[in-house]
Amino acid sequence: MAGKATYRAHANIAFLKYWGTRDASLNLPYTHSLSMTLSHAHTTTTVAWQEAPGQRDTIVINGQACTGSARARICAHLDRIRTGSARSLTAHVCSRNSFPTSAGIASSASGFCALTLAAHAALQGTVHERDIPALARLARLASGSACRSFHGGFVEWHAGRDHETSRPIQLHDASHWNLHDLVVVVSEEEKAVSSQNGHRLADSSPLLPTRVDYVNHNLADARQALRSHDLQLLGTIAETDAMLMHAVMLTSRPPLLYLNPASIRLMGMIQAWRRQEALPVYFTVDAGPNLHLLCEAATAAQVQDRLSRLEFVQQVIVNRPGPGPVRMAEHLIQQDFQDLDWTFPSAHREPDA
Ligand code: DP6
Repeated sequence: MAGKATYRAHANIAFLKYWGTRDASLNLPYTHSLSMTLSHAHTTTTVAWQEAPGQRDTIVINGQACTGSARARICAHLDRIRTGSARSLTAHVCSRNSFPTSAGIASSASGFCALTLAAHAALQGTVHERDIPALARLARLASGSACRSFHGGFVEWHAGRDHETSRPIQLHDASHWNLHDLVVVVSEEEKAVSSQNGHRLADSSPLLPTRVDYVNHNLADARQALRSHDLQLLGTIAETDAMLMHAVMLTSRPPLLYLNPASIRLMGMIQAWRRQEALPVYFTVDAGPNLHLLCEAATAAQVQDRLSRLEFVQQVIVNRPGPGPVRMAEHLIQQDFQDLDWTFPSAHREPDA
């Protein structure tokens, strides 16, 4: 129905990560980054626009009214989308994650990808294929990693020089390689410093240039490892990059410590499983304590079995490469806002040639 739309977008895990911004207002990263879109971690978002001058946006996430800085960030993004409309539009947003928000999966990536697409579709009636690059750039302004969730499978976010050239590119679709990502939840505590604020501190670390060099020197090998399904090469590069990113965090001023004793213990165990038993499993970790374990499908059950015996592991979420965003027929907001008079120029309704 015009005026209301629902999208589902999947979160992603980066093998070569985005940390620190060359331009914070545009979220332009220092390096390219490489990620896999996750099959079992998605956000579904309905946006309904209402012509209601002076009314506040309503935002509900996982059944709770969204407040404070999280609300301000979402409203600022809705402003980017409604800018240009002659009407005075209020948004009603309802969003739900398939995974616990504190599980160490970037909900901002799937969240801002789904929000951007649903808000645009609700306003314009449809999302054309040709709109996707501009919408991915728009989502990047809200959350850098969100631009990578615009594609399924394996994705490179090309750092670019400016707003127009900083964009995601799909390297391979989800059927290319059945790589598994096991998210190991060791803590559900909310992190003290958000990634958004963490990025701003990266410049204060003396190790930032070292990490930027590392990513630049290993990007071609990481792409090659993805192309040829080389877990050993990809895993080694990803593990080192995660360590370097945390080294940057630890040496920022003020320092950022996202890992906890359970994360470090698990890192040691994974390295020992590889060294002593030749078990092909590698880890990466974002801005939080929960590790993502990378392994082939054939090894996943064995790794899960080992994890199930560790008393400090609270939950394991098993992911394969997931799809790009999809428009949903079912909405999370049932109400229709009848006072809207949506008439679209015919060009906006025509499917892409
Ligand atoms: C450590 O800017 O996407 O996950 O502030 O949560 O939107 P939010 O984070 P974002 O940074 C993500 C940083 C990272 C690494 C990565 O995904 O590349």
